[in-house]
Amino acid sequence: MEASLNAAELDVRHFTHDDLPQIRQALIDIHADAYADAMDDEFNQRFPWFVDHWGGNPGFACVIAYDGEEPVAFAYGAPAVEGREWWREHLEEAPEKSRTFSYSELAVRTKWRKTGTAELVTRALLEGRGEDLVVLLVDLEHPRVQALYAGWGFRKVGDRQPFADSPVYAVMLAELPLS
Ligand SMILES: CC(C)(COP(=O)(O)OP(=O)(O)OC[C@H]1O[C@@H](n2cnc3c(N)ncnc32)[C@H](O)[C@@H]1OP(=O)(O)O)[C@@H](O)C(=O)NCCC(=O)NCCS
Repeated sequence: MEASLNAAELDVRHFTHDDLPQIRQALIDIHADAYADAMDDEFNQRFPWFVDHWGGNPGFACVIAYDGEEPVAFAYGAPAVEGREWWREHLEEAPEKSRTFSYSELAVRTKWRKTGTAELVTRALLEGRGEDLVVLLVDLEHPRVQALYAGWGFRKVGDRQPFADSPVYAVMLAELPLS
């Protein structure tokens, strides 16, 4: 059955900061499914804190893909604070156009992997945004995920460990709109 799942049939909906109370549990549920084999990691267990942190940002932007009424994937982020963009310490010269969107998190339920859903929610989140750049962090130990982002036009510009107990991440940057 799973082979017939098709991202084109999903209903993609956009949400903002004001919607957080309504979507919070859906984000937590998708994340728990997507990271099911890594939820013994304390950092992953802190995800609800991150949802509240990012969702509390007035510029929070989120896309959720639904199979009927079942939420199956999400992508979210928020505009970066000028001067504190994740790429800033890694580039010798700041790009001329440097307004940046921080793409914080992407997760797809295991059942919906390899169906184009990750790219669907990513492009839906990023298309039409006003920023010049999009930056994200991906665990250095997940090179296949890094390759996925490279396929969408992101390039690695450095390494970063935002918290003492967090993984070390590759910082990946792309221009908007994505090609
Ligand atoms: C990342 C993700 C959205 C990609 O979905 P997708 O486009 O359907 O692609 P896949 O699930 O096949 O993942 C692509 C590759 O990355 C690997 N991968 C995905 N998530 C991974 C993770 N958390 N840790 C290690 N490897 C991972 C997959 O095994 C796959 O490898 P393969 O090409 O050798 O089969 C989805 O795998 C997911 O939700 N993963 C868990 C959450 C996550 O890691 N999010 C990214 C945060 S930067």
